[in-house]
Amino acid sequence: MKVLVTGGAGYIGSVTAERLLDQGHDVVVFDNLENGHRSAVDSRAELIVGDLRDQGTIADAVARCNPEAVMHFAAYALVGESCEKPELYFRNNVVGTINLFEAMLGAGVTQFVFSSTCATYGDPDTIPIDETCPQSPTNPYGESKLMIENVLKWYIRYRGFRGVCLRYFNAAGATQQLGEDHDPESHLIPLVLRVALGQSEQITVLGNDYPTPDGTCIRDYIHIGDLAEAHILALGHNESGIYNLGIGKGYSVREVIDVARSISGCDIPTVAGERRVGDPPALIANGSRAREALGWSPQFERLEDIVQSAWDWHREHPDGYAD
Ligand SMILES: NC(=O)c1ccc[n+]([C@@H]2O[C@H](COP(=O)([O-])OP(=O)(O)OC[C@H]3O[C@@H](n4cnc5c(N)ncnc54)[C@H](O)[C@@H]3O)[C@@H](O)[C@H]2O)c1
Repeated sequence: MKVLVTGGAGYIGSVTAERLLDQGHDVVVFDNLENGHRSAVDSRAELIVGDLRDQGTIADAVARCNPEAVMHFAAYALVGESCEKPELYFRNNVVGTINLFEAMLGAGVTQFVFSSTCATYGDPDTIPIDETCPQSPTNPYGESKLMIENVLKWYIRYRGFRGVCLRYFNAAGATQQLGEDHDPESHLIPLVLRVALGQSEQITVLGNDYPTPDGTCIRDYIHIGDLAEAHILALGHNESGIYNLGIGKGYSVREVIDVARSISGCDIPTVAGERRVGDPPALIANGSRAREALGWSPQFERLEDIVQSAWDWHREHPDGYAD
């Protein structure tokens, strides 16, 4: 298939684009490179540098490349920033996606795979979280993703779209070529590994009084290769649907730091910090629907293997993509 990958210069989009190409698909990446990296885009893909907030640019791109499907990764994804400046998130994540939908309508493209998030669940009452749990975001980022899930529902019903929403838990790890390089970085594993590499002095543990066994937040970490594979299975599935993507096992911040210490062999000093606004104590997926319906079978079930892949990439690329 020919697939348009928005945000394909970013962390998860670049890995998915690479995997699509490896499996024989044609890929066109659409990215404004604001948070992505030109060198993360596989040389086999065409790169269109453009912004989704510009209706004409995305409409031209979709009409010209005429894809059979769109995978939509492009978004802002910083929870804290979304609380400070919600308008950025509604403009980019909501208006940008509606522009994309209209561009797809104009070109007769109806196959859509969407990067949604467990942040749409907010602070859930039950763990693990399945797809039927109430969605009640606690920040504008999660709300912006939920808004698009709701808009997509109507395009599916009345505009002939086939849309799959993938609600990721915490993406982590690296492939041999591609890894995580955000600026600013807000994700735990790369921040911890920066300390191991001597690039930061210590890691701040954001809250140690949560109602969890060691007082720190618990998250479900999923390897980006497994995330990418789920997208490709969703593309071939031929039915609309909503799927959680998580391993179903949670690790606390302290456990992640301990794993990083043992893999890197480095002492990783910690300092206690305040809780981050809107951080739920625990987010763990029930991912059985994706396994059963899509035949998804994650290869990285152990946190040690996920952190090892990230450590290998960061040691090879201490300055990230350096572009
Ligand atoms: N990383 C995670 O743990 C995680 C978890 C849940 C959901 N998600 C979602 O997955 C998607 C990808 O996340 P990521 O970590 O790879 O983010 P990322 O920031 O690395 O990648 C996003 C890419 O989109 C591009 N982009 C943003 N706005 C754009 C616009 N208006 N026009 C064109 N390009 C634009 C950026 O330049 C960047 O390359 C996001 O939609 C995010 O909300 C990520």
